[in-house]
Amino acid sequence: MTLYVRLGVLLLCLMFFAGAVDRNNFKTCEQSSFCRRCRKVEAGKTPYEVVPMTVTQNGSTLQADLFNKDTGVNFILQLTALKDNIFRLHINEKSPLHKRYEVENALQDHPRQAELNIAESQSDHVTVTSGPSKAIIHFSPFRVDLYSDDHLVVSANARGLMRFEHLRTKTVKQPDDDSSNNKNPEETEASSPEYPGDGAEDDPGAWEENFKSHQDSKPHGPEAIALDFSFPGAEHAYGIPQHADSFALRSTKGTDPYRLYNLDVFEYEINERMALYGSIPVLYAHGKDRTTGVFWHNAAETWVDILSSADNNVVESIVNFVSGSVKKPQVDAHFMSESGVIDVFFLLGPKPLDAFRQYTILTGTAPLPQMFTLGYHQSRWNYNDQEDVAQIADKFDFHDIPMDTIWLDIEWTDNKKYFIWDSRKFPNPLEMVQNLTSKGRKLIVIIDPHIKRDSTYYVHNDATANNYYVKHADGKDYEGWCWPGASSYLDFFDPKVREYFGEQYSVEKFQGTTNDVYIWNDMNEPSVFNGPEITMPKDLIHYGGWEHRDVHNLNCMMYTQVTYDALYKRSGGTLRPFVLTRGHFAGSQRSAAVWTGDNAAEWEHLRISYPMCLSAGVAGMSFCGADVGGFFKNPDAELFIRWNQAGAWLAFFRQHSHIDTKRREPWTFNDETTQIVRDAIRIRYSYLPYWYTLFREHQVSGYPVMRPLWAHYSGETETFAVDDHLLVGDAILVRPVFEPSVTEVSVYFPGEGRDTWYDVDTMQEHKTPGATRIPVTLHKIPVYQRGGTIVPRKMRIRRSTAAMKNDPYTLVVIADAEGNASGKLYIDDESSFEYRHGKYVYLRLSFDGKVLKSGYIDNLANLETASWLERVDIANPPKGVKSAKLTSQNRGTVNLEAKYNTNNNVLTLRKPGVNMGEEWSIELVN
Ligand SMILES: *[C@@H]1O[C@H](CO)[C@@H](O)[C@H](O)[C@H]1NC(C)=O
Ligand SMILES: *[C@@H]1O[C@H](CO)[C@@H](O)[C@H](O)[C@H]1NC(C)=O
Ligand SMILES: *[C@@H]1O[C@H](CO)[C@@H](O)[C@H](O)[C@H]1NC(C)=O
Repeated sequence: MTLYVRLGVLLLCLMFFAGAVDRNNFKTCEQSSFCRRCRKVEAGKTPYEVVPMTVTQNGSTLQADLFNKDTGVNFILQLTALKDNIFRLHINEKSPLHKRYEVENALQDHPRQAELNIAESQSDHVTVTSGPSKAIIHFSPFRVDLYSDDHLVVSANARGLMRFEHLRTKTVKQPDDDSSNNKNPEETEASSPEYPGDGAEDDPGAWEENFKSHQDSKPHGPEAIALDFSFPGAEHAYGIPQHADSFALRSTKGTDPYRLYNLDVFEYEINERMALYGSIPVLYAHGKDRTTGVFWHNAAETWVDILSSADNNVVESIVNFVSGSVKKPQVDAHFMSESGVIDVFFLLGPKPLDAFRQYTILTGTAPLPQMFTLGYHQSRWNYNDQEDVAQIADKFDFHDIPMDTIWLDIEWTDNKKYFIWDSRKFPNPLEMVQNLTSKGRKLIVIIDPHIKRDSTYYVHNDATANNYYVKHADGKDYEGWCWPGASSYLDFFDPKVREYFGEQYSVEKFQGTTNDVYIWNDMNEPSVFNGPEITMPKDLIHYGGWEHRDVHNLNCMMYTQVTYDALYKRSGGTLRPFVLTRGHFAGSQRSAAVWTGDNAAEWEHLRISYPMCLSAGVAGMSFCGADVGGFFKNPDAELFIRWNQAGAWLAFFRQHSHIDTKRREPWTFNDETTQIVRDAIRIRYSYLPYWYTLFREHQVSGYPVMRPLWAHYSGETETFAVDDHLLVGDAILVRPVFEPSVTEVSVYFPGEGRDTWYDVDTMQEHKTPGATRIPVTLHKIPVYQRGGTIVPRKMRIRRSTAAMKNDPYTLVVIADAEGNASGKLYIDDESSFEYRHGKYVYLRLSFDGKVLKSGYIDNLANLETASWLERVDIANPPKGVKSAKLTSQNRGTVNLEAKYNTNNNVLTLRKPGVNMGEEWSIELVN
C-alpha cells in the first residue's frame, strides 16, 4: 500500500464510521461573516431611497436610481413586467468597482416581457400596472408592493432589511495602526463623515475568513446582498429545497436560518435547516385566498429567515401596515446571499398551480422522460461484478418482480477513473449490457465530477494539458481529495470543457457501453473530502474569472447539463436522456432527476422523503425519489416493506444502499416480505400510464407530478401543514404508513365533503371528510382515487416497461355525485423524440353518467399504437345498466357485456377491444 492509499482508507473510515452528522464540519450563520452581517440589520431603518427625478420607463421596465444614505452609494433599480403574471426586480450598483456576477443558465430563455403602464406618478411613489397585477414603488423608505387583482400579496423591503454591500477597496492599515477601526479616509467611503458606512468592514470576516483549518482569502471583500419579503394573508411558506425538514417551513426565530449551499452532508439528520446537496431559491407563501412566490435568482451561498405571524415579532407594527387593526396572518422571509446582485421574480399566482407554473415558465419544465425511468430501479453500492449483475437480473425474473434498471456505483471503474471499466470485475461489459437489454432492461452507471490525478488517466492528462481544471487564484490547478484520492475538478463553466467532457460519453470513447447505458452524476455539490465544509474553497477561480463563491450552487447543474446534452448527442438525438443528479439548482429539472441523497434506514427518514420530494416538486423537480430502504444501516423487514410501498408513489423509485449494508433485494428477507414488496412494485407498474401522462402534463403545463393537498384544496386550512400525504396528479391520494407496528393510521380526506375518495384496492367509497383513522395491514397502505376521475392503468404486469409497451389498457372510472368523471391519457413510443413531430396521442376521457368517451386533445397528433382497451371499471355507476355499445370508426358499433358487482358497486365492461389510438365512445344501455 502506498501512503496515498493508506491515507485514503483512513479518510474513508473516518467518513463512514463516525455516526451521526458532524455539525462542526458546517458553518452556522454566526460563523459566516455575511450571514452574520445581514442578519444583524435592524428592521425599520432602511437607508435606501429612490431618487424621484430618476424614474424612467423603457418598454416593460421601470428604472430608477436607488440611493443608500449610509454609504452614499447609488444603485440602479429595474422593475420589469413579464408575461404570465410575473414581475422582476433587479438591483445592482450604478458603478461597481468591477462587474458583479449575474446567474446564467437557471432561466430557460429570456423571460417574455409584458406591457407595463405607469398608472400614477407621485412625489413619493410610482404605480405601474400590467394585466391583472400592479406594483407600487415607494420612494422613501424604499419598498415595493405587489398586488394581484388589487390584493397586496407581497411587499419587498417592508421590514427594511435590504442590504447591498457595494464593492470597495481594502482599507490599508497605517504601519503604527493597532486598531482595525482606524480607516484611511482616502481608501474608503465608509469613514467619510457624511456617510457613516454600512459597517461591513467592522466585521472581522469582511476581507478574509477562517473556518476550521480553512482560510477564505475573499479578495473582493464584503459583497453580500439581502432583501426581505412580507406576504400578507399567507399562513405558511414552502419551497427553498433542499432541507430534511417539514414541507411547511418553520419559523427560524431563535434558530439558524434555512441554508442554501450545496453540500455533501454525511449522515444528515432530519428536521434540520442545515444545507444539503441541492439549493433551489424559490419560496411560496400560501394562504386561504392565494399563493405567491419569489424566485431569488442567485447562485451564491444563501440563508433564509422565516417568520410567521405566530412569532409575534417586534416589527409587527411595520409589517401590519396593510391589515391595519385587523390581525391577518402573514409570513415574512429574509433572503441573504454572499455575492451577486439582487434579482428576484415575483410569481403572483393567484392559485398554487399558477405559481408553480410561473416558476417553470422561467426555469423550464422537465423533458418527458423515457417510460423505463418511471419503472423500478435496483441499485447498490455495489453490484460487485458482471456475474452479480446477471444474477440479480435473473432473480427478479425468478421472483416475478418487475425491474427496469440495474445501477453500478463507483466500484465499476478502474480505480475511480470514470469511463474506464474495472476489467477484472467487468471483463465483458458490452455483453452484460446486451444481456440486460435483451430483457428490456437498462444499465445505469455513475460518473462523478472529480478527476483522478493519475498520469496514466487520459482525462487527467487532457485536462492538465488544456487547462480544464478549476484553478487557484494564482493559476495553479486546484487539487482536492475525493473517491480516487488526489483529484482535480473540471471547470464546467468553460464551454471547451463542456464540449470535451461531453465527447467522452460517446459510445466510441466510452467503451463497453451502448445507447442503453444511462448516467448517474453524484458528488457534484461538489464533494471534496478535505475542502472547507467538504466542498470547494470559495476563492477558487472559474472560467470568466468568477470566484467559486459566485457560482457554487449552480456548479452542479453545469455538470448535469453536459451529461444530458452528451446523451442526447450520443444517440443522434433519437433517445431521451436520463441523468440522476444529487446536487441541484434552479433549472436542474431540465437535465436530471434528483434523489434525496444519503438517507438512513430509519422510520423518520422514510417519512421525511415525502416532504422533501414535495418541496422539490414545487421547485420544478418533480422527478424526485429517496433511496428505498435507506442508504445507511439495515432496515428490518417491516421498514423495508413500508419503504417500498411509499417509494412506489414517489416519481423516482430506486432501491439503493451503502457498501456496508446487508444485501436487500426484495427476496432477501422472507417469503411474506418478498410477496408484499412484489405487490408494491407491481402496483407501481400498473399505474405507469397515469404517471407517464402526468409527466407529459408537467412538461406542457409545469404542474408538479406529485402535489401537496393544498395544490388542489387551496382554501382548506387543515391541508396546509399536511406533508405525510400527497396527491399524484389530482386523482390519487396517498398516505403511506410511516409508523412501525400500527394497525391504523390517520388519513386526511380533503374536499370538505364535495369530493369523495375510493380505496383503490376495494373500490369502497370513503365519504367522511377530514381526518379519519383508517385500518392498515402490512399488505396495505391507504391509497384512494377521487370520485369524478378516470385513471388509466395496465394490468398485465411483466418484467419491464419495455415488455409492457404494447399491452392493453384498463380505465378506472369513478363517477362523482353527479355521475360524471374525467381524465387524460398520453401515449407515445415511450423512448424517442418522435412525439415532438406529432407521434403521440393525447386523449381526453370523459364520462357523463351514460356515455364514456375518448377524444383527441390535440388533433395534430397521430400514433399507431398496438395497445387496445381491455377493460373499463366504473365505480358508482348508474343503476340498471344491462349492456353497453361501443362505437368507433374502425370497429363500427359493437355490443359489450356489462357486469355489475354488487359487493363493490362497480360495473365492468370487458374487452371493448378498441385501439387506443382511435377516438371512441361507449354508451351504457339499460
Ligand atoms: C430600452 O431598452 C432596450 C432593450 O432593453 C435597450 O436596447 C435600449 O437602449 C433602452 N433605451 C433606453 C433609452 O434606455
Ligand atoms: C450473457 O448471457 C449469457 C446467456 O445467459 C451468459 O452465458 C453470459 O455469461 C452472459 N454474459 C454476461 C457478461 O453476463
Ligand atoms: C356532468 O355532465 C353533464 C353532461 O356532460 C353536464 O351537463 C354537467 O354539467 C356535469 N356536471 C358537473 C358537475 O360537471
